[in-house]
Amino acid sequence: MVLTIKAQKFEGLAPKPPMGWNSWNKFGCQINEKIIKEVADAMASNGMKAAGYEYIVVDDCWQIGRDSVGNIVADPERFPSGMKSLVDYVHSKGLKFGIYSDAGTATCQGRPGSRGYEFQDARAYAKWEVDYLKYDWCFHGKQNSEASYSIMRDALYKAGRPMVLSICEWGTTKPWEWGKSVGHLWRTTEDIINCFDCKNNWGGLGVLQIIDLHTEIGDYSGPDHWNDPDMLEIGNGVLTPAEERLHLSMWAMFSAPLMAGNDIRNISAETLKLLTNKEVLDIDQDILGISATRWMKYGDLEIWFKPLSDNNYAFCLINRSNQSIAINQDLKTTIKKLKVDDSYVVRDLWKHKDIGTTKENITGIIPAHDVLMLKLTKK
Ligand code: GAL
Repeated sequence: MVLTIKAQKFEGLAPKPPMGWNSWNKFGCQINEKIIKEVADAMASNGMKAAGYEYIVVDDCWQIGRDSVGNIVADPERFPSGMKSLVDYVHSKGLKFGIYSDAGTATCQGRPGSRGYEFQDARAYAKWEVDYLKYDWCFHGKQNSEASYSIMRDALYKAGRPMVLSICEWGTTKPWEWGKSVGHLWRTTEDIINCFDCKNNWGGLGVLQIIDLHTEIGDYSGPDHWNDPDMLEIGNGVLTPAEERLHLSMWAMFSAPLMAGNDIRNISAETLKLLTNKEVLDIDQDILGISATRWMKYGDLEIWFKPLSDNNYAFCLINRSNQSIAINQDLKTTIKKLKVDDSYVVRDLWKHKDIGTTKENITGIIPAHDVLMLKLTKK
């Protein structure tokens, strides 16, 4: 009798949005094993690992070609010790290792893609004990996205090592509609670029532009199948502290994967404090995994809410404008269907301070490009 195993997604690998670091935003192609090891050292010891960051993801440009039988080959100049040794090093720090490939014939930087080599590549990653694969979408020609990503899902399953599959086709074929049975997260938009409010012709969106694309797709996201609004630009020298707060707050409101994208070997105390704000990270990692809804837009002021476990809620009031905005907001009746009564304590998650209860209106000033992030906890 022949027993065939039906290939499927490895279920249950991302019950909460994955957290970690990815090389692309800061280093682009300029990566090597020394940088990756130093980043792993930093993450393991600077408080990020303790705050929940666990994946070290090596993005494009680690690979250089294929050998005579088609095995993927790491760039020997940049990764002289080979990928297995690098994975072992990352594991020795108590962290997990992520790798990058592409569903087309080449990666976005022209390195070998996995098209036609899916099973062989999946076996290589499994042999190296990789934990996470980010799978891109350049040079895909006329390939069908769902079919292409499903091949890699099946290849990973057959290779036998549980790996998170991160779908990166930039939202072009609505992966939120088909990705749940294929991968654990899917990029929802074009690449993030390092700015608050801007857009690039070649494809690239600022923080606000990405937020705007998440008003309708929140319901598709949930445990083990997350919307991914791309990696963080916090600590990369362009966003102001207010803009960085708003960026992290809204990613947490979306239950987004949180992949730091800065040089954490040389992280400033302020950036570290921001990235490890436990009260904000707890909103991202809330076990219900519900993505926020935009409830109100009054000009440049937006109010988003997110239901949390234990009948609690998170609220974000964001100020998109260049001027401060005064607020006087009744959170209780703002959202009638939430049935928020008088008995909630309102806490400011950036000031780490209780600021009142739902009996009274919330008043104050939100500076330009800043956020008021609140947690409502039932007494
Ligand atoms: C893009 C992807 C980026 C990065 C880059 C590498 O397609 O969206 O996150 O991986 O390719 O070339």
